[in-house]
Amino acid sequence: MININEKNLEFHLKNEQISYIFRVMEETEIMEQLYFGASIDEYDQYDFLIERESKPGNNQIEGSQITNLDDIKQELPVYGTTDFRQPALEIVYPNGDRISHFAYDRYEIRQGKMRLKGLPSTFGSSEDVEILVIFLKDRYSDMEVELHYAIYKDFPVITRQNIIRNHGTTTYQLESFLSLNLDMPNENYEWLHLHGAWAREAQLSRDKLIIGTQQITSTRGASSHMHNPFFALATPETTENQGRAYGFSLIYSGNFLAQIQLDTYDIARIQLGINPFQFSWELAGNASFTTPEAVMVYSENGLNGMSQTFHNFYKEHLINQKWVHKTRPVLINNWEATYFDFDEEKILTIASKAKDLGIDLFVLDDGWFGTRDTDDGSLGNWTPDLRKLPNGITGLAEKIVDLGLQFGLWFEPEMVSVDTPLFSEHPDWRIGNPKKHISHGRNQFVLDFSRPEVVENIFEQMDKILSTAPISYIKWDMNRYISESFSATLGRKNQGELFHRYILGVYALYEKILDKYPGLLIESCAGGGGRFDSALLYYAPQAWASDDTDAVERLRIQYGTSMVYPLSSIGSHVSEVPNHQVGRLTSLEMRANVAMFGTFGYELDITHFDEAESAEIRKQIKTFKNYQTLIHEGDFYRLKSPFGNNETAWLVVSKDKKEALVGWYQVLAKPNPAYQRLRLTGLAAEKTYIVNEDGQETLRKGKDLMSAGVLLGENLINRSEGEQSHKRYGDFQSRLFYLSEK
Ligand code: DGJ
Repeated sequence: MININEKNLEFHLKNEQISYIFRVMEETEIMEQLYFGASIDEYDQYDFLIERESKPGNNQIEGSQITNLDDIKQELPVYGTTDFRQPALEIVYPNGDRISHFAYDRYEIRQGKMRLKGLPSTFGSSEDVEILVIFLKDRYSDMEVELHYAIYKDFPVITRQNIIRNHGTTTYQLESFLSLNLDMPNENYEWLHLHGAWAREAQLSRDKLIIGTQQITSTRGASSHMHNPFFALATPETTENQGRAYGFSLIYSGNFLAQIQLDTYDIARIQLGINPFQFSWELAGNASFTTPEAVMVYSENGLNGMSQTFHNFYKEHLINQKWVHKTRPVLINNWEATYFDFDEEKILTIASKAKDLGIDLFVLDDGWFGTRDTDDGSLGNWTPDLRKLPNGITGLAEKIVDLGLQFGLWFEPEMVSVDTPLFSEHPDWRIGNPKKHISHGRNQFVLDFSRPEVVENIFEQMDKILSTAPISYIKWDMNRYISESFSATLGRKNQGELFHRYILGVYALYEKILDKYPGLLIESCAGGGGRFDSALLYYAPQAWASDDTDAVERLRIQYGTSMVYPLSSIGSHVSEVPNHQVGRLTSLEMRANVAMFGTFGYELDITHFDEAESAEIRKQIKTFKNYQTLIHEGDFYRLKSPFGNNETAWLVVSKDKKEALVGWYQVLAKPNPAYQRLRLTGLAAEKTYIVNEDGQETLRKGKDLMSAGVLLGENLINRSEGEQSHKRYGDFQSRLFYLSEK
């Protein structure tokens, strides 16, 4: 997959779907980007990809008019080389200058990619993946950069990761070191990204690139509710099913920067990596620094093609493999049923009803430890509250397991409340400068996870609980951002390392727990989707997508989230009505039909349900379990977007195309509606499918389901007069169609 033209030092990474080409530029010996897109042939030389015109500017080489690096597409732009755009690497030298020049030295090819410890990254066997490592040497120091390019055999994907090594004894300061720089000719691109806030995460936007810089970032210590470390470029003609799209995703949970700088020669500089904001890293003699890994996807089949690549690639080469193809339990979480107001008896009543309904796992949410009756205390004191749970977590968990359910427990490991022994003993474990104001968020403070002893203390407290009770699942929450970053132990020169060291500490705790409890299913959460990123999926194969559980809101949240993340990772529950976030009343059916396109579970007080409602829930669980493998393992296609529309539709098609499940949703009812048909996609044209809607079956060819579509209105032909009055279904309608090959 890696072809090298030794004479011209041109590198061509290629599989059946994509090509990625760059070269060593003459004289400057910097790495020049040539091409990323659909697979192209190998050539003896790639002159036809080189753009070199004489332009006014600052030139590198004396006498030359064409070595202005401001006009050159590059792999690792640095400051001080006549490129005035944003660098991907910035170093402060001991005398304060920031001028670097990293020139090509050698390359290496490696087969296979190990699963890394401590920093989530993709992995694959020597059959699946090859890595090209380009070594660059700084002309002004003993520093060396490694550019790692991984190409996977079966995916239109290149991953990028960089390492800088200081081979000398002088200490340098890294001010920025991004994971990815790609300079691409603009083709009237639009950029798509996910933005939001608490309870309205993953809202999709699509805008034309403007000349200048557009960026999304996090400065909050987590990837955040506001922006997701992902964006895509697509041509204006690109739709869900057609056209070219490039997707970029960063495997990182901390502060990130995603930026496109469109210059006045119509080159888009695409950058992704750790946010340089408040970042600096001391690179002492013989030390090294590794960036997070960035993933680039190319699609010729529209945005659905891009998303399917992300889904399948992350499933095969990133997500915790213990769980990725394993059936997930249907869970019930007590949060919206009880909030903090519960005791053992109440929990057991919910659990026994849950068992009766066919639920697999009971999750006890916040409020089981310390004296936590509200959200103003006890975090960091992970001892069971015996007032509520006289038999502790062990006693409760055993009783729940005796009922025939699995037991899961909520933790918020990274936080501390001031009323805890942990805080009294170690006030300096809290992030913030004690001599200045330290803000609370939800009455709580962030623990300094850059310190291994802090991580160890929390591990020991969690271990005490996990080792003494039958716990198969953890919900790992994180409910506030880091606002005044300061660590008591990092000195003046190293405070800029806190955000990155913090997130490495979070990964370390995930690893310690999974090393000891490898069978544990962890669902990550950050006040909903505040840290829904690919890095955490490395450990926690599912993430709570949002605290907004309203079915209509969830259409947008789940649709947006699916741009990058597979359905098997999207935590989704049927919750109470009137909905606790927006007050909306939707039917049980609508709520389940939305939640089914995710991990699926319940979060409401089921104890007051009558026999009819209980029967409906039993039926929903049975339906979900019938389709669970299809939903979690199949290919997901978005059909109609909820953004700006009254209707949403999507479907999952099994890999062998023998089955499919279609979800259709309408927000507001309309009088005397227009005729409606839903054209499907992704089916096998020649197969005949049985289309089943709630037991009503019709036979249809794949081809016509994709052209004529499914009729959504009524067909009253040959019906009696009495049947011909229009049904009025009301707002918030949904329909499920199950297709199976005849
Ligand atoms: C925020 C989470 O997103 C909720 O689901 C719930 O676990 C609460 N925290 C508990 O405090």
